[in-house]
Amino acid sequence: MQVHDAKLVISAAEPHQYPSTDLAEVALSGRSNVGKSSFINKMIQRKGLARTSSQPGKTQTLNFYEINEAFRFVDVPGYGYAKVSKKDRVKWAKMIEKYLTTRDNLELLLLLMDFRHAPTALDIEMKNYAESLDIPYAIVLTKMDKIKRSQYPKHLSIYKKALDLPTVDALFPVSSATGEGLKDVWSIVEEFI
Ligand code: GTP
Ligand code: MG
Repeated sequence: MQVHDAKLVISAAEPHQYPSTDLAEVALSGRSNVGKSSFINKMIQRKGLARTSSQPGKTQTLNFYEINEAFRFVDVPGYGYAKVSKKDRVKWAKMIEKYLTTRDNLELLLLLMDFRHAPTALDIEMKNYAESLDIPYAIVLTKMDKIKRSQYPKHLSIYKKALDLPTVDALFPVSSATGEGLKDVWSIVEEFI
């Protein structure tokens, strides 16, 4: 997709702040620092639109990015950051749960996981949660530029096994540094919006 227009519509914590449901939404989830905001920027070729940081916990609200006035990417705060208090973790869970369980125009969930490492317990939980809610999802494996090409098959099979997938077809390795793999994710996104 040629992106000619991209803007942040709103940063929302509560459902009454969400934009109207007239456009399809593609939401991203994944642990803190996995590269969700960087992924959005690279997908839409806008360097600093989604705020990124080398420190985990940068994104704190649901950020709705409207693309070509045709659909929205929803950047979701990451999970699994050890320094987050129990109270904030509960707040996070409620915010995500409200969005995922009530949003009728949520068409696709991109589950971002770090290609360099096996999925975490929370990654597996998130995938099972998406399945239990019957939300279509694809698994985007980030930071592929950080491992050797010869290691790709090994890492793909680790993911296939840990996530109990029938094939590796739902796994999409990408790099937000080089842009590799993003075309394939665009194809999936375009099917759902
Ligand atoms: P939270 O908002 O804290 O949940 O994090 P996030 O998932 O949005 O991560 P973010 O996009 O802020 O990226 C975290 C760090 O990883 C930054 O330092 C990025 O530059 C780096 N990063 C993200 N994607 C890639 C990638 O594909 N390759 C490399 N080499 N670095 C990446
Ligand atoms: Mg972020």
